[in-house]
Amino acid sequence: MSTNIQAVKGTQDILPKDSYKIRTVEQVIAEIAHNYGYCEIRTPVFEYTDLFSRSVGDTTDVVQKEMYTFEDKGGRSITLRPEGTAGAMRSFLEHGLFNEPMPQKVYYFTSCYRYEKPQAGRLREFHQFGVECFGTQSASADAEIIALANEIFDFFGIQNLRLELNSIGCPDCRAEYHKALHSYFESKKDALCNTCLGRLERNPMRILDCKSSVCSEIAKDAPKVIDYICDDCKSHFETVKKHLDSMNINYIVNPTIVRGLDYYTRTVFEFVSDQIGAQGTVCGGGRYDGLAQELGGASTPSLGFAMGMERLMLILQAQSIELPTPNKCDLYIATTDEQSSLVASRIAKDLRSEGLFVTTDIVGRSVKAQMKYANKIGAAFTTVLGEDEIKSGKSKLKNMESGEVQEIEVDKIVDDFSSIAIQTIVSSLSDDSFEGMDINALLGGII
Ligand code: HAM
Repeated sequence: MSTNIQAVKGTQDILPKDSYKIRTVEQVIAEIAHNYGYCEIRTPVFEYTDLFSRSVGDTTDVVQKEMYTFEDKGGRSITLRPEGTAGAMRSFLEHGLFNEPMPQKVYYFTSCYRYEKPQAGRLREFHQFGVECFGTQSASADAEIIALANEIFDFFGIQNLRLELNSIGCPDCRAEYHKALHSYFESKKDALCNTCLGRLERNPMRILDCKSSVCSEIAKDAPKVIDYICDDCKSHFETVKKHLDSMNINYIVNPTIVRGLDYYTRTVFEFVSDQIGAQGTVCGGGRYDGLAQELGGASTPSLGFAMGMERLMLILQAQSIELPTPNKCDLYIATTDEQSSLVASRIAKDLRSEGLFVTTDIVGRSVKAQMKYANKIGAAFTTVLGEDEIKSGKSKLKNMESGEVQEIEVDKIVDDFSSIAIQTIVSSLSDDSFEGMDINALLGGII
């Protein structure tokens, strides 16, 4: 029987024709995060299961239905991370980052795993860009992370995204709200799904984001948390809005946003698009002031967001936002025999260490076939190094676009071609600058 060569349901490969786009987007995002004072953190792809049940919450859909949990060979319960916040907070506590100057600002690009029904923009393995800011309760921090997300969308020129905002209060005001929710759902008990019946006693707020159509219909008329928040939470929320106004960031208050994870307190927000189907939330986040304590640390008010990279790429595609293509082969060196192949290998190595993209034959093709290949890969220049060229010390360099040919000395090819290539790259860069998006400037000329 042959091996199944299909990727697992809900996962996808990113092929070379697309991977450069994601790489560029990630580089831009990392640079913007850096400008906001964030440093990268990398945490393991799996953690003890308990970390997620304690932080994301054991009455959430994520924990109750979607986690990839298994027992390892040592009998430990392990879970593939369904999101990035819990691991980042665990790492912050474990490594005593609270002893560093506060706030600690970290960002990450991670793969995440949730056993959900796959559809456009919803995968079982997906990728997030996330930021976490540990150690501030100031409302200006809430506005600052929203500004960071907003800047990413603005940078790419993404249009028609809605920023929706809400406050879900603190544990004090939440108690009143839970009572109101409990009595509302108690009266509709017979129609609730089994999972929500369990949530009714333990955490009625989670019924609000149940994916069952009956429960979500009932949830529409449930009491709204914003009507129950205390004066402190109200004034915190007002200050967040004032900061957003001051930065000219548009938002709407959506009292139905509660987010699907248990750790949130006060501000919650989502960026939503109507252009990518039912899974339109491209970014979600908020405050989680109680999480550090919940995991056994000292009180550390914190906040963050995560952006779904696949959904972001879908929006870029839906809005026909072009990304710069990677530079093509600068020089193809064709060879005719072993001797010229030895010389070509050395020249290619030296030019590559000068930062140039150089290709030479590693297949054993005829010169004609090598030229065809050079054309296919879009080589900017070609040269043939044969017996005659090696003997005479001179070869012909052809500019494949203009057809122009110039003589070049084999011994000086590294220096001479480097300067020719730099001139060509500089002129092509200015042709490539796209409207409203100066990626090259942002990345300091990396691409
Ligand atoms: P979340 O809303 O569960 O929040 O996920 C954040 C983003 O990840 C979503 O807005 C969406 O773009 C993307 N996403 C979620 N599930 C999937 C999926 N199955 N397929 C594709 N994309 C998906 C969190 O994960 C929080 N940790 C965010 C956060 C960070 N809050 C504070 N700090």
